[in-house]
Amino acid sequence: MKEYNLKDYSIYLGNEVFDVLLEQLIEKSYSQVFILVDEESERHCLPSLQRTLFDTKVIKIKSGEAHKNIQTTQFIWNELIKSEADKHAVMINLGGGVIGDIGGFAASTYKRGIDFINVPTTLLAMVDSSIGGKLGIDYADVKNSIGMIKNPAGVYINPIFLTTLPERELRNGFAEMIKHGLIADEDYWSKILNVQRISVEEIVPLISGSLKIKMQIVKKDPEEKSTRKLLNYGHTIGHAIEAYSLIKDKHPLKHGECIAIGMICESYLSKEFSGLSGRELRAVTEVISKHYQKYSLRNILSPELIKFMRQDKKNTLHQINFTLLKRIGKAGIDYTCSDQQISLALNYYDSL
Ligand SMILES: NC(=O)c1ccc[n+]([C@@H]2O[C@H](COP(=O)([O-])OP(=O)(O)OC[C@H]3O[C@@H](n4cnc5c(N)ncnc54)[C@H](O)[C@@H]3O)[C@@H](O)[C@H]2O)c1
Ligand SMILES: [Zn+2]
Repeated sequence: MKEYNLKDYSIYLGNEVFDVLLEQLIEKSYSQVFILVDEESERHCLPSLQRTLFDTKVIKIKSGEAHKNIQTTQFIWNELIKSEADKHAVMINLGGGVIGDIGGFAASTYKRGIDFINVPTTLLAMVDSSIGGKLGIDYADVKNSIGMIKNPAGVYINPIFLTTLPERELRNGFAEMIKHGLIADEDYWSKILNVQRISVEEIVPLISGSLKIKMQIVKKDPEEKSTRKLLNYGHTIGHAIEAYSLIKDKHPLKHGECIAIGMICESYLSKEFSGLSGRELRAVTEVISKHYQKYSLRNILSPELIKFMRQDKKNTLHQINFTLLKRIGKAGIDYTCSDQQISLALNYYDSL
């Protein structure tokens, strides 16, 4: 088992993490232990957690982003009130990023904040959303528009949960792992290069590398004033494609699939503006194309996508903000590019 100690909490990774979780629960002598699940995490993950923990109360919500909203938050608050949860209760978020975001938010607002613990069950939650303390819900049609930053009391990652995860969900999380290598660590990138097929066997040994990169970045800048923006690489164009696909496609792309496209486009911009070499651009393009299906941008007008980019909360009023690569393993923040250059980047992807 691996253990990483941050300033106010620890992250554990391995197949025995629930024994440590039990110890933490006993040590803190919480008044009540709640476990928040969705339909899938209840079915696939709850039984093995409950084999170790005892005397817990389960709160179940529906699966999916559509339920990461204020109504579901109210439902969670009501369940806590019904069970007479006091300030010394704890919420264990057992699920993917949706459960982590909404469970952390509901816990942090209940009685001015009770502890919450993350037990991520998707790859995306293991390597990304369960660390860094961003919590929240979607509101007024805007993703993550209401929320806060507050750290969990602990994160317990048991990779065994990945065995029931659909392959597409693995690919979803893998995009963030590719990103970690590109922005921060050339050695880690070379391990990513060696992945033949996105499978549990090949991915599990890479989780710790991704965790370390995300941890180091959020430790330096928890509030996203500077360094944390490095994690936005691929996300300026990626988010615009995600917003577009959500509205226009019958079967919308997943976040990671959009970030994969965003990373190719933003590598093109990196070659133009921040020093990435042509050889490196080809390497990034090749790796991403190997694992992600091509999505045609042909019928999408660049101005339409650029409009979405302008709406992104990362931007100041007039400029679209980019994180770009200086080379593989090193990124820089706060670049701006003209609309025409963004169109060229989209064309580069579309012409592949
Ligand atoms: N807080 C952050 O820093 C941060 C970072 C990135 C993303 N996010 C948020 O995370 C969310 C996306 O997270 P996600 O991709 O994990 O989505 P998700 O939580 O919706 O999980 C994806 C699907 O997998 C199912 N599932 C979960 N665990 C499973 C398992 N072990 N076996 C089988 N099925 C399982 C879920 O029920 C769901 O249907 C978004 O809401 C996004 O905004 C937050
Ligand atoms: Zn992301």
